[in-house]
Amino acid sequence: MENLTQKIAELGKRRGFFFQSSEAYGGVSGFQTYGPEGAELKRNIEDSWRNTFSRGLGHREIQAPTIMHEPVFQASGHLDGFDDMIIECPECETSSRADHLVEDNTDINEAEAFSPEQIEGLIKEHDLVCPDCGNSLSDVEVEDFNLMFETNIGPGSGQKGYLRPETAQGIFVEFPRLKQYARNQLPFGITQIGKAYRNEISPRKGLVRVREFTQAELEHFIDPDEDKPDISRVENVELLLYPVNKQEENGENYVEASVKEAVNEGIVNEWVAYYLGIAKEWYVEIGVDMERFRFRQHQPDERAHYASDCWDAEALIDGDWIEIAGFAYRGCYDLTKHGKHSDSEREFSVFKEYDEPETVEKTKIEVDMSVLGPEFGDKASEIAEKIERKVELAPEVAEEGPIFVHLDGEEYAIDSDTVSVKKEKEKKTGEEVVPHVVEPSFGVGRTVYAILAHSYYEDIVDGEERRLLRLESEVAPTEVAVFPLMNKEGLGEKAREIAERLRDYGFSVKYDDSGNIGKRYRRQDEVGTPLCVTVDYETFEQEPETVTVRERDSTEQERVRVEELEEALIARL
Ligand code: GLY
Repeated sequence: MENLTQKIAELGKRRGFFFQSSEAYGGVSGFQTYGPEGAELKRNIEDSWRNTFSRGLGHREIQAPTIMHEPVFQASGHLDGFDDMIIECPECETSSRADHLVEDNTDINEAEAFSPEQIEGLIKEHDLVCPDCGNSLSDVEVEDFNLMFETNIGPGSGQKGYLRPETAQGIFVEFPRLKQYARNQLPFGITQIGKAYRNEISPRKGLVRVREFTQAELEHFIDPDEDKPDISRVENVELLLYPVNKQEENGENYVEASVKEAVNEGIVNEWVAYYLGIAKEWYVEIGVDMERFRFRQHQPDERAHYASDCWDAEALIDGDWIEIAGFAYRGCYDLTKHGKHSDSEREFSVFKEYDEPETVEKTKIEVDMSVLGPEFGDKASEIAEKIERKVELAPEVAEEGPIFVHLDGEEYAIDSDTVSVKKEKEKKTGEEVVPHVVEPSFGVGRTVYAILAHSYYEDIVDGEERRLLRLESEVAPTEVAVFPLMNKEGLGEKAREIAERLRDYGFSVKYDDSGNIGKRYRRQDEVGTPLCVTVDYETFEQEPETVTVRERDSTEQERVRVEELEEALIARL
């Protein structure tokens, strides 16, 4: 018997949702093409995401390049820390993701949280074998494997670059300009929908683990001391939560709480909870089944290098919980790193003006260059800088005896009389604040996949088995299909005229006049079209003209006046 994953893969291929790319050349795993139906479904999901998370919350969207040069990823930590664990079979040389090998063959979940050494131990303990040739993998080394795709920018050896592993970095590196657009006012949010790339060790499950994929990400820059989310907007949204402490108990013990309760009881950080609430409502709207959905908190060892807390939205498919979005509290990690690595620290912070200027006492340090210059020549200004830094940190050194500084391996003793330290009062109008980042990050392909899996149904209609997708009209590739019963005696012309009229009105419409009418209904059921309109002989027999409107899920048909068709369709959609 086929499982849901196989059924979706088969439907995906046959009806043009998604399939292995470049199949004519044997294909390369981890790359999928969205066919005509899949591309429309994906675009509708992206538009819906945009309406909710970008325009709907007053955030702004950008498009940054997908290739960025090496320093960006040195700063972001991806060069050093963006690894998965790999194990290579010494017999057949097949590489496998070592933590997945453990998860697939033991009762252990979330093995990503273990270290390579721990995974090696588990492979030995459970005597795990190569999934390809069956050779024992006990005593084989588990190593870290960096997931970024490397490339050269420009001719020759060029400059080293990487395909971005997350769209987020394209937002962070532009922070100096983006804060100008936000007129230096926190909080503000920037979104981006675009491709990201990860050189997965073992791609699998259709759209779930691929090497090129689309992310929809929101980076919300906040002042951690002052900004609060508008919890009232989502306070009563019910969440099914799986916090770390519950994961440590036996069985799947969830916490059911409203957003407000989750915050008040300290289960979820208020900003993360706010976005869990918005996301839950959005998932309902686009057709993710809430009976197969939960929010799971990351184990501390499982969190990405930049996150201080993270919750995943997970969809249950064929008994596996699939991550479809992550909600991370990234703190000031990214902006601090880019500020330091790019030598433009101030550009990655925001100047926060005080309501009232404050008077502060400032230490003013002056080094007498008329003494240092003749004595130290071209080293004088460097020595002066070192003295200033030292006195700034510990003003008492300027009071007692010589001040020692080191330069180019030499030690210099400077008479403290050459340094004067004065206290001055100064008006301070504000301070630099490094914003914190709250990041809801959605896998668009995984959302497509979850919606396909959760809307897939089989039933019996007229004694025949029917496969259908109960897609929400918000995301369905086609809202209305229009058919003539037969393509003759003016039925085809009338149906085409109606299809044009509905398109002009703004519906997404498909016209189909090929094959028998039953098959045409089945085709539309399989691609999730909520409504079909059929022009038949009765259309012309009545005055005013009528057509049938058929609903996908119930298969019920009603006659509707052509002149009132738009209203009738809107009411049903
Ligand atoms: N930006 C979060 C992620 O790519 O997982």
